[in-house]
Amino acid sequence: MCGIVGYVGSEPALPILIGGLRRLEYRGYDSAGVAYLEGGGLSVVKRKGRLQRLEEALQRQYGEDLSGGSVRIGIAHTRWATHGAPSDENSHPHLSASGRIAVVHNGIIENYMELRASLSGLGYAFVSETDTEVVAHLIERHYDADAKKDLLSAVLRTMGEIEGSYALGVLCADDPGTFVAARKDSPLVVGLGTNGNFIASDIPAILSRTREVLILEDREAACLRADGVRVVDALGRPVDRAPMHVDWDVEAAEKGGYEHFMMKEMHEEPRAVRDTLAPRLRDGAIRLDAITIDAADAAAISKVQIIACGTAYHAGVVAKYAIERLARIPVEVDVASEFRYRDPLVDARTLAVVISQSGETLDTMAAMREAKRRGARTLAIVNVVGSSIAREADDVLYTMAGPEIAVASTKAYNTQLAAVYLLAFRLAALRGLLDEAACAGWSERLLALPEALDRILADRSVLQRFAAEHFNARSVFFIGRGLDYALSMEGSLKLKEISYIHSEAYAGGELKHGTIALIEEGTLVVCPLTQAPLLEKMIGNIREVKARGAVVLGIATDSCAKVDEVCDAVFRIPDVDPLLAPVLAVTPMQLFAYYVAVNKGCDVDKPRNLAKSVTVE
Ligand code: AGP
Repeated sequence: MCGIVGYVGSEPALPILIGGLRRLEYRGYDSAGVAYLEGGGLSVVKRKGRLQRLEEALQRQYGEDLSGGSVRIGIAHTRWATHGAPSDENSHPHLSASGRIAVVHNGIIENYMELRASLSGLGYAFVSETDTEVVAHLIERHYDADAKKDLLSAVLRTMGEIEGSYALGVLCADDPGTFVAARKDSPLVVGLGTNGNFIASDIPAILSRTREVLILEDREAACLRADGVRVVDALGRPVDRAPMHVDWDVEAAEKGGYEHFMMKEMHEEPRAVRDTLAPRLRDGAIRLDAITIDAADAAAISKVQIIACGTAYHAGVVAKYAIERLARIPVEVDVASEFRYRDPLVDARTLAVVISQSGETLDTMAAMREAKRRGARTLAIVNVVGSSIAREADDVLYTMAGPEIAVASTKAYNTQLAAVYLLAFRLAALRGLLDEAACAGWSERLLALPEALDRILADRSVLQRFAAEHFNARSVFFIGRGLDYALSMEGSLKLKEISYIHSEAYAGGELKHGTIALIEEGTLVVCPLTQAPLLEKMIGNIREVKARGAVVLGIATDSCAKVDEVCDAVFRIPDVDPLLAPVLAVTPMQLFAYYVAVNKGCDVDKPRNLAKSVTVE
């Protein structure tokens, strides 16, 4: 996610702004910028790349420690690219048409294409590819018209027009003593200091300046001046909220108060899945950004070849079920390191779908190049805008998970599944297999997933208890059928990579062909039970392993009957279409692995022998 810092007060602002951005660097970014008022003018300095480049640009005018001049108010930003590759032009802050208003933004403006088209029709020119730029123009339109030069009022009116998630910082040259902040879905805190007041995306950015913070709630805005802060709701009514005293240290604050980045990132899954889905599911239609596959292209695809590694490969296995079921196109899924060397059957009628969180995995990059060399069209599903794989693929569908710090991938996998579902539905619609009504129905079911994830994350006690009882297991089996088998692969990897317990995923119907010989007293078995048509057979598998002494954790939908009588513990997830169930059912598996690893005292965020991005063969 992007990082925001703002300040107004009696101290030099630039050291506070840049220092705050430095404390947000852990969130990941690809560019940085600052807007500030001095001598009646509004200045914007922004650079692609590391924060150092921005700092050096400012030092030339304000000295080594940036305390020169008379800058006492400003807003600053580190950008994690979502719309538009990393560049100086796409960096924040963005300016309104007149250059009097500057905006920094964290989040996704879901209706920015419609807003951009409308503003372009009114003669507005755009200098960036970002969704944020529309906000700067909208605020100025209101500021000059119905808001009667009141910046807070202009921001409130703009909030009524934009859809999606946003944390905003807004500065106006006409009012050198004030800046405005607002939020919906993206976090934003207000810091109350003795020599001024602050905003920040995350507490670490201002912890060295104040420990008194106000957490802005959704659809609230704040007007900050050196001598005070006024918080209002979406209708401009005053909000009276006592500040919170933060007693975290900086490291705890970077994790948002969670013990590990992995737990923080699992709690980001609802937002991440929504940000990946919502901008592509407007008005019931499924749009895949700039992806240029049309109906003729889709009809001509003879095979989809999915290529990935690790967690991304497991998302590809789920994708096979979804694409074949919906689009009726044969799908092959390979780990990248195998695909390259098996002389694969790939030609111009192959759509090669390459999945990668980092967009830098060397095995995956090399495999994509091999597929291209053999004539395939390539479509990358990646989480990092402008990454190597994204740049080389013919088409890109970005996941909107935001930066993933923990080595064990969690929210990225959930968003990879969301992305492959979008692709499956889009291909099916292009091939005339899904009409408008069906697309609208699936769109509604997809958009219900974030709320279901919220519920799953809200009560983790069953998993905590089961992990505490069984964290000394020597071997764990994840057994499933159909999509539950595909999902089990990811559950098994999660457990292995952070708890170092041997584990494997097994197809329920395959157990009797040998592996059931390994089941003995105390063997731990985890069973996702989301595929109703296969439930009876899975119940049979559970009885088989129970008869040999296994201990079984079931992960079942609310309406799934009989499981309580056969499993030792059951974690319930909201009812969901079986096809979409993996997006939900993976999270209990991630949580189970997390609690086992914590009970074992493992380094959850940085497991031994592993790297976040494997850029070697
Ligand atoms: C997942 O938890 C692992 N960190 C690893 O398997 C990872 O998924 C794999 O290395 C692929 O990385 P990528 O998605 O960045 O290409």
